[in-house]
Amino acid sequence: MDTLAEINIKGFADEYIDPTLDLFDEIEKLKKEKNAVILAHYYQEPDIQDVADYIGDSLGLSQQAAKTDADIIVFAGVHFMAETAKILSPTKKVILPDMKAGCSLADSCPPHLFAKFKEKYPDHLVITYVNCTAELKAMSDIVCTSSNAVQIVESLPPDQKIIFGPDKNLGAYVAKKTGRDLVLWNGACMVHEIFSREKIFKLKERHPGAKLLAHPECEEVILEMADYIGSTTGILKYATSHPDKEFIVATEAGILHQMQKDNPDKVFIPAPPNNACACNDCPHMKRNTLEKLYLCLKNELPEIDVPATIIEKAVKPIERMLEISARLGL
Ligand code: 13P
Ligand code: SF4
Repeated sequence: MDTLAEINIKGFADEYIDPTLDLFDEIEKLKKEKNAVILAHYYQEPDIQDVADYIGDSLGLSQQAAKTDADIIVFAGVHFMAETAKILSPTKKVILPDMKAGCSLADSCPPHLFAKFKEKYPDHLVITYVNCTAELKAMSDIVCTSSNAVQIVESLPPDQKIIFGPDKNLGAYVAKKTGRDLVLWNGACMVHEIFSREKIFKLKERHPGAKLLAHPECEEVILEMADYIGSTTGILKYATSHPDKEFIVATEAGILHQMQKDNPDKVFIPAPPNNACACNDCPHMKRNTLEKLYLCLKNELPEIDVPATIIEKAVKPIERMLEISARLGL
């Protein structure tokens, strides 16, 4: 766990949390008092998922952020997700339990380099995966998530030239599914590139009935082995609706909490990574803790601030995504 000095990034240094406090009760009280809503991604630690008003994937969280009437949005996720909520709800206060909860994928696409890349393809439409900075969204024509990327590309005329960024693995998957020739930015997520094909292969030998469920941010060698490829919500729905009892899960391990909760009689095995440790946690997502969430709600800090000029540009491609998703019933 971080030191208190680290937790207290802005404005609430040295704040002591009484160890006898029931943080679940305290968070509930604060939520009512402040008319706040807690949105949590599936990769958050179990306690955070259990205290959240809404748990979801990136598309669900954006849809929720767009329609909430709360005064404060506590975003239990990473920085780009909280930025998306702020872009969609600029008059609301959006707070993130740990301001350092970043994203390796968003970091793999610095906006000034992407601007130069874009200049090389002036007749291309820019589709960006939501896992990117607000500045990158502001340079895009349409934003997408892992649950609607294929359908968004398919909704465009077949001769439309497209740049897809920042995730090359999701981009390659979308290109394969749609048969389109996409120009890809060379970015990736550290968590989804860590899985070992050899170890998964051996695991499948030991569990011959287990289905492999993989997120499209994984590399092609992993996706080729998968029985199902989808977003976190897609993976959860597949495991719940499918009659099989055993599943190997190739995405961040936080999703296993909801999978197990919804399917107590089924077995979920996290896909093994290619290093010595057995961990496939996202270090950025896991910076948020229940203690930080409590302090964040209590102090209404740290707050997400996106410049108005960026909001004005970034909201359009996100709205375009939400419109296409609504039209397609996603
Ligand atoms: P989804 O939940 O939209 O599938 O996104 C996965 C992810 O990596 C979020 O950081
Ligand atoms: Fe970013 Fe990957 Fe972590 Fe998602 S899992 S927040 S894409 S580093």
